[in-house]
Amino acid sequence: MKSPSAAVVARAPGRVNLIGEHTDYNGGLCLPFAISLTTTATVRRREDDRLRVRSREADPGDPHWQEYVVGVVAELRRAGWVVPGLDIDLVSTLPLGGGLSSSAALECAVATAIAGLLDVPLDGPGRRLLADVCRRAETDHVGAPTGGMDQLAALFGADGHALLIDFADLGAPVTRLVPLPVSEDGLTLLVTDTRVRHQLADGDGGYAQRRRECADGHPRRRRHVATENARVRSAVEAIGARAWQRLGDLMTASHASLRDDYEVSVPALDTAVDAALAAGALGARLTGGGFGGCTIALTHEGRVGAVRNGVDAAFAAAGWPRPAHHEVRPAEGARLL
Ligand code: GLA
Repeated sequence: MKSPSAAVVARAPGRVNLIGEHTDYNGGLCLPFAISLTTTATVRRREDDRLRVRSREADPGDPHWQEYVVGVVAELRRAGWVVPGLDIDLVSTLPLGGGLSSSAALECAVATAIAGLLDVPLDGPGRRLLADVCRRAETDHVGAPTGGMDQLAALFGADGHALLIDFADLGAPVTRLVPLPVSEDGLTLLVTDTRVRHQLADGDGGYAQRRRECADGHPRRRRHVATENARVRSAVEAIGARAWQRLGDLMTASHASLRDDYEVSVPALDTAVDAALAAGALGARLTGGGFGGCTIALTHEGRVGAVRNGVDAAFAAAGWPRPAHHEVRPAEGARLL
């Protein structure tokens, strides 16, 4: 039992999806990885039953950030956990609201810290329960009808690995770690944040609309899901064979499908992808829900500077603010510190 005043600290990562977009809620496959940009939650038991949440960031970026925390606590209680009143302090190195799943990182950091406070083991079943709780915090409390990929990536990610998730059984997705030895082979995964902000919790927004269209059997949306699932399977094979140009081609094909069939791209994402390819990237695509946010490019280490400069120049020519670039590596999932 922790002493009443003891602080428990947990850290959870953001994620980048390598390939397999808008497949999670469609019973398909995706291949995200956790990154080393994280959110850290410090929780302390309170004498009363109140919940006080503070963020070190002056502008936490997402108007719903406190609701995510309230949702996690409510869902843990619904799952039968006796969660006391808490003081929760948050610090993030993730660009918030920028398509790297800062919301899942926030939820998973808080849930992991509370698990630590209550001495609940963070084994496989424990993490699965937390992933479910965090997803419901987002769908049922914040009203962002997301699919579950982000929380699983944040909780089951591992250093040097991507996480293959099969949502064929939506209630019990199956995960498998896939070694992703890009840096050993002289390659870099470059994330470019277009700074165009999306809002998944907007009920009339494109994300919810795409979900409805898929449920209604919209042929082009369904075609994206079918071809994307096939691309994820091929990507896992390409990674196993270290066939990096093949992986890059699959990423680029994924972007075309998201742009033309699923229609979730925007000009800034298309420009970032096209400019990265023109500057020599092996492949590039939007990553995450789309309608803004980030792209991911696979590029030889020696070309990273050229790719960044190429994208910056294309944005400058379009009169847009300079994008932010992050070189990312597959990193570990949520844990207690
Ligand atoms: C967002 C959601 C995920 C997933 C992606 C699209 O990131 O949170 O559940 O649906 O969009 O692949």
